[in-house]
Amino acid sequence: MITLPGQIAKKLTKALRDELGDALPRDFCATVTVSQDLRYGDYQSNEAMVLAKVARRNPRELAQAVVAKLGDMTEAEVSLAGPGFINFRIKSEKYVECLMDMLRDERLGVPLVECPQKIVIDFSAPNVAKPMHVGHIRSTIIGDTLARLARFMGHTVITDNHIGDWGTQFGMILWGWKNLVDQAALEQHPIEVLLTTYKEVNKRCKEQPELLEACKSELVRLQSGDPDNLAIWKRCIEVTKTGLKKIYDQLDIHFDYWLGESFYNDALAPLVKDLMARGIARESEGAVCVFSDGFHAPQDDPFLVNKDGEWQPVPAIIRKADGGFLYATTDLATLDYRIREFQADSIWYVVGAPQEKHFKQIFDIARMRDITGDFRHVAFGSILGKDRRPFKTRDGETVSLQDVIDEAIERAARVVQEKSPDMPTDEKDAVAEAVGIGAIKFAELSQNRLSDYIFDWDKMLSLSGDTAPYLQNSYVRVRAIERKSGIPDFSVFLSDRACIRLSEDREINLAHALCRFAEVVPATLDDCRPNLLTAYLYDLARAFHSFYEACPVLRSEDSVRFSRLALCELTARVLKLGMSLLGIRMLERM
Ligand code: ARG
Repeated sequence: MITLPGQIAKKLTKALRDELGDALPRDFCATVTVSQDLRYGDYQSNEAMVLAKVARRNPRELAQAVVAKLGDMTEAEVSLAGPGFINFRIKSEKYVECLMDMLRDERLGVPLVECPQKIVIDFSAPNVAKPMHVGHIRSTIIGDTLARLARFMGHTVITDNHIGDWGTQFGMILWGWKNLVDQAALEQHPIEVLLTTYKEVNKRCKEQPELLEACKSELVRLQSGDPDNLAIWKRCIEVTKTGLKKIYDQLDIHFDYWLGESFYNDALAPLVKDLMARGIARESEGAVCVFSDGFHAPQDDPFLVNKDGEWQPVPAIIRKADGGFLYATTDLATLDYRIREFQADSIWYVVGAPQEKHFKQIFDIARMRDITGDFRHVAFGSILGKDRRPFKTRDGETVSLQDVIDEAIERAARVVQEKSPDMPTDEKDAVAEAVGIGAIKFAELSQNRLSDYIFDWDKMLSLSGDTAPYLQNSYVRVRAIERKSGIPDFSVFLSDRACIRLSEDREINLAHALCRFAEVVPATLDDCRPNLLTAYLYDLARAFHSFYEACPVLRSEDSVRFSRLALCELTARVLKLGMSLLGIRMLERM
């Protein structure tokens, strides 16, 4: 199936080719975008203006010629505006056709990708014995949504939680484990206990230098394979994983693999050797480093930085002078493994923006080694408190993800209690959980991921505005209308009887919004920008509400009633499927 703007773009491409001939690049494909101002049309294209420059023609005259070549289109009325915009107003019979197709299609019109890929998505990846803080929320939630979207589009997706399970923190943890940890408490709250242990030892080390030495020697013993320390280390990872899995289950987020940093330990020494043998890495002041190979212009070279007008080297260090390996070394081995063992075409790393240089270097070293693939750093900004400073608890601690989840559910429970005091307690709890977790996820996903965003409880739990509760509530309202219609099974009813007619403006508006689902989902994945989908769902819900205010559904007669009920049903289905791609549950009542 091909989307409406897709069909138009195809015809527009042909008209441009007819008009411009060889002046048009061979693989040219016209783009058609949704109009900012619906008064002029539903979609528009500025191709004539762009191409007029290349073809040295007057833009408006070129646009006119193209419109003439397009002739009468089955999809849309075509018109010309300004210096050469071409506007398309979709014909209402075309919307009817699109909506009828959607009614019969589980995918609601969203086409599968033509070239499915194998994509590894690396996300969440917290560090053992360090808190999974709100910064990890972003990675966890964005990564999960990308995985859901990519799978839905027909890609093969492997989700891999690359946890930090091999770092210098284990020196302190080992000492703390042997001298401080209360095993019973550990069983109960593994993540918290490991964290407080780490913090406590860290604090003591600052006061007692000899303790720091003791921790270091614990670390050395671990690294050289001491069985006792290895056993404790394994236990730490186990309890951490158990704790994390509880959180992930609550968030309905799952990983295919948990190949943490330690998984690659044995691959590091041979990898460094190989890079040296191939002349990609070399020794520098005792360490082994990768320097620029001059492939890029200096301003695009991740191994150079400009200092006072001069380009200076910033090598990637892959082995320290003391023989230890680094984060970068592990990431090189990880990339290898994913290409070789998983046969990945693409690897997407959902990691905060501060690691930009790290990933640029990793991807560039892959190029030096002739390893090809679509490698993306899906970066994101930080979460700030209302005071625009990093989001912290009242006593200045980093906020733990579990605390955020608990508080969201608690606050949602208050909203539910107010709104539906008579609901049975079990149902209230389930609603609070879906609303609370939905609110966190939606607030996260509706941000432009690259900007910092302000964490605001009141806003994210509000029943109005672009929030999960607003959309969940919209869905509940649609379902309530359907229940009142007295029709027992909507899917049967619709496949038998429905015939959509569109006459009112607000019906056409809603039809436009519904049909756009098929374009928005692929675009959201292409740019790894979940906020395109959240904004779309909010627009759809608003289009529904204004339709419902102006166009009586249950009080209409016969065919109009059927048609409007079909619009309700499609709205419900798009809302539900769209939110499920964001990992957010819809409720039948709330
Ligand atoms: N553990 C790292 C951190 O918390 C994130 C790991 C991201 N993935 C990767 N392949 N480097 O910063």
